[in-house]
Amino acid sequence: MARPKLHPPFFFANLAVPTGIPAYIVVPRIAPRCKQAAIRAYGATLVPCEPSDESRAETAARVVQETGGVMVHPNQEPAVIAGQGTIALEVLEQAPEVNALVVPVGGGGMIAGIAVAIKTLRPDVKVFAAEPRNADDCYQSKLRGELTPNRHTPATIADAVKTSIGENTWPIIRDLVDDVLTVSEEEIKRATRLVWERMKLLIEPTAGVGVAAVLSEQFQAIPREVENVCIVLCGGNLDLSSLTWLTDLPGDGD
Ligand SMILES: Cc1ncc(COP(=O)(O)O)c(C=O)c1O
Repeated sequence: MARPKLHPPFFFANLAVPTGIPAYIVVPRIAPRCKQAAIRAYGATLVPCEPSDESRAETAARVVQETGGVMVHPNQEPAVIAGQGTIALEVLEQAPEVNALVVPVGGGGMIAGIAVAIKTLRPDVKVFAAEPRNADDCYQSKLRGELTPNRHTPATIADAVKTSIGENTWPIIRDLVDDVLTVSEEEIKRATRLVWERMKLLIEPTAGVGVAAVLSEQFQAIPREVENVCIVLCGGNLDLSSLTWLTDLPGDGD
C-alpha cells in the first residue's frame, strides 16, 4: 500500500484544530517572527524564553508544572526522532539512487531519525551532519567520543541549530553518522543566497548550512562514490525584514 504523504500545513491543521488539545510552545525570543506568528496562527500559546538551552528547559518545566501538560522535547523525544525518520523513507522512495544525505544538526533529532532509517534500510548510504563552525558541538562530540555541548549560546545566523545534541541523540549520532562537516558564517550566507537565486526556493539560513557543507572543500575532497547527494533543505522560516546581512556579503554571491 502506498504511504500517504504528509504536507506540513495540513498536518499541523489536523493536530491543532480537531483535537482541541491546548499546546504551549516554548520559543526563544530571537526566533524568526514569521515562525512565532505561525505558531500563534495554528492556535498554540507561545511562551517566550531566553535564547539558551538552560532557559528553554527551565521555561518548559515551569509550563508543564503550571498546566499539567505533557512535555514533548523537540529533538530528544523518541517519537519525534522516529517521526523524522520518515524524511529518509521519502528520500529512498523518490531518489533510490542516493549515495549520501547531508543533514543540518541542532539537537540532532532530525539526523538521528534519518540515520536510523537509512542505516537500517540502506547501510551503503552515507549520512553527514552539517553544522555552523560557531555551533560545532556535534563535531566536537564526535572528535572527543563524548557528548560535548556548546559551552555558550552560539553566535550563528543559522538560528535553528544553536541548540546542542543531547543524551538521546548522541549515541545514535556517535554510532550511525559517518562524519560532521562544519561551515563558516560566510559560507552559510553564500549558500543560502545561491539557493534563493538559482533554485528559487525560500530556504532559511539553517537549510543553507547543508548546502554550504556540500560546497565546502572538505566535502568536495570526498571520493567520488558519493555522487548522488541529497541535502535536506530543512526549513523556510525566514524573516524577510532581517535580510540586512545580504549587504555585508563581499562580491555578488558568485
Ligand atoms: C529549520 C530547522 N532545521 C534544522 C533543525 C534541526 O533539527 P534538530 O534539532 O532535530 O537537529 C531544526 C530544529 O528545530 C529546524 O527548525
